[in-house]
Amino acid sequence: TPQVATNVTWHEGEVTRADRFNRLGQKGVTLWFTGLSGSGKSTVAVAVEKALHKLGKLSYRLDGDNIRLGINKNLGFSAEDRTENIRRIGEISKLYCDTGIITLNSFISPYREDRDQVRRIHEEGGYNFIEVHVDCSLACAERRDPKGLYKKARAGEIKNFTGIDDPYEPPLTAEITLHTDKMSLEEEVEIILNYLQEHRYLI
Ligand code: PPS
Repeated sequence: TPQVATNVTWHEGEVTRADRFNRLGQKGVTLWFTGLSGSGKSTVAVAVEKALHKLGKLSYRLDGDNIRLGINKNLGFSAEDRTENIRRIGEISKLYCDTGIITLNSFISPYREDRDQVRRIHEEGGYNFIEVHVDCSLACAERRDPKGLYKKARAGEIKNFTGIDDPYEPPLTAEITLHTDKMSLEEEVEIILNYLQEHRYLI
């Protein structure tokens, strides 16, 4: 059994979340983009980040490939490793959220239970979690195949590839769904910004 720390307690600081939010003039929130490889998660997050920057808002992107080159370089694509990948990102984005940053997460995050767990750790701490389903059919993602990975997966050169021989469980109650096979990138960005506006994250 792995060793875990005991006798650890939360240490409260003297600068509050509200202090930080007031300083930044914005409220932290996590936008969680989930979808198949090639569905457009990163493309949308990059465009949203750019739009938020133009509005003078501080946001930060956490992205599957990048995170797997760094903090999660010891994780692969087994069910267990994907769950740990998402758990760590969930905790990291909660910290970003606590600082007041609009956090844009793009991970396949194929398992519903893992995403629900991230939502729970946010909501239990009083942080906001917005699930964005970046939805396109497998056929569409496979047609795009930006990295040639579907081709490799079909040829059996990559095992456990999401959508081919590993499951993707779509969200049942996402706050936002983007149909990236029918919408333009501009429309998608507008939907996200409108949502943030309506829920008073951009005041
Ligand atoms: S997960 O399931 O959330 O832990 O995956 P994530 O951290 O988002 O990483 C997905 C990117 O890794 C590449 N890749 C794979 N994806 C799925 N299945 C397998 N077996 C796999 N092997 C490598 C792939 O480039 C994914 O990037 P995106 O941007 O989603 O296309």
